[in-house]
Amino acid sequence: MGRGQDARATAGQRPALQGHAAMMDPDRQSDASEGAALDSETVGKFVAKFEENFGGREGLRCARAPGRVNLIGEHTDYSGGFVMPMAVDREVRLFFRPAPGGPVRLWSENYGEWDEFDLDDIQRNDSASGAWPNYVRGVALMLQETGCELCPIEGIIHGDVPIGAGLSSSAAVEVAAAKAFCAAANCEPDMRELALLCQRAENEFVGVNCGIMDQFVSIHASAECALLLDCRSLEHELLPLDTSAFRVVVCNTMVHHELAGSAYNERRAQCEDAARRLNERIGGVEQLRDVSPDVLADNADVLDEVTLKRARHVVGENARTLQAAEALKAGDHAQFGRLMDESHESLRRDYEVSCEELDLMVELARRQPGVLGARLVGAGFGGCTVNLVRRQHADGVVRSVKAAYREETGIEPEIYQFVAVGGARVGTC
Ligand code: GLA
Repeated sequence: MGRGQDARATAGQRPALQGHAAMMDPDRQSDASEGAALDSETVGKFVAKFEENFGGREGLRCARAPGRVNLIGEHTDYSGGFVMPMAVDREVRLFFRPAPGGPVRLWSENYGEWDEFDLDDIQRNDSASGAWPNYVRGVALMLQETGCELCPIEGIIHGDVPIGAGLSSSAAVEVAAAKAFCAAANCEPDMRELALLCQRAENEFVGVNCGIMDQFVSIHASAECALLLDCRSLEHELLPLDTSAFRVVVCNTMVHHELAGSAYNERRAQCEDAARRLNERIGGVEQLRDVSPDVLADNADVLDEVTLKRARHVVGENARTLQAAEALKAGDHAQFGRLMDESHESLRRDYEVSCEELDLMVELARRQPGVLGARLVGAGFGGCTVNLVRRQHADGVVRSVKAAYREETGIEPEIYQFVAVGGARVGTC
């Protein structure tokens, strides 16, 4: 396509997620039974701790929000594109109760520290050792800005989502806090609004320019399903995962390179720049979502080399994600795996968000029998890879990759076989 033509007409991004999505209530509350039950030992431990710190257990409830792994569609959400995450059986839990008249008082079990703040004067807390207080404070502020009259809460926050591993522990903190504040104040914005305000808390209060994927899936996920999400319209479709055929194996490199924050915001700016330039040439380009691979190829000359590479990744990844959804529906797991492999190559070569350890982890997995596809997951520069593995090979892959990575790097990796769980919920203890 040449100059002056409307990119949207040929962008090839179908008016996504009709049919199935249209039949679902987009703000359906996830069924409480979809998540793994909290084991009684965990509940007992935190109830006792709560009683010790706050006196009594009357009115105690637990807000739970899962982390996520993204099967495909990486670095597309902030360009209005397509993603396909699933929620994993690791979560953040906030044991809480309303504490009218007092400040918000929370203990982080992971960081071993308190945070306390007044709802009528919410400022950043930059003296804590973890970023967690600002996720909670930011969410409280955004809820107030949408008109919720919040009630202070007291409680204990604890999570087993690996931190800094690309599995969205921060979104899980935001969503658990949002759920707890809403429950305590008896206000329930719709689930889509809740996801958007959690994202706003991270963008505007914490200062990380993330997209909508993590918060959205932590709220809207469903057990045994991946969630295909159109990040512009927020239409979504649940795609059943055939766990009798394959396992989702996630390998944690245990490294986290400092570049992550600045490089993320830089990539985002490059995508916006690419969209602006393409729009000047052909019109109709609000975000890279509006550009097809062919349109990009025909208009490549308006972009400098680096910006073109960034755009090529996003545009290709959107197409791959839609193809992957078709492959999943058709039960073609081999094709799904190939698309994951291509995604990694594109993230490595064009988007340049991989690192040695991630490439090694992907390479080691690909050598194993039964591995259908392997790619880095999340923002990149460390953290995890996600692998689609034939079920009967999963345990062997875990053992072999673990040993090989340890031998090559001297680092002991963590490897998880996750199941897909339902989204955030509040329950009694
Ligand atoms: C982080 C962000 C997400 C998304 C991914 C990359 O996880 O929080 O919004 O952009 O990186 O796909």
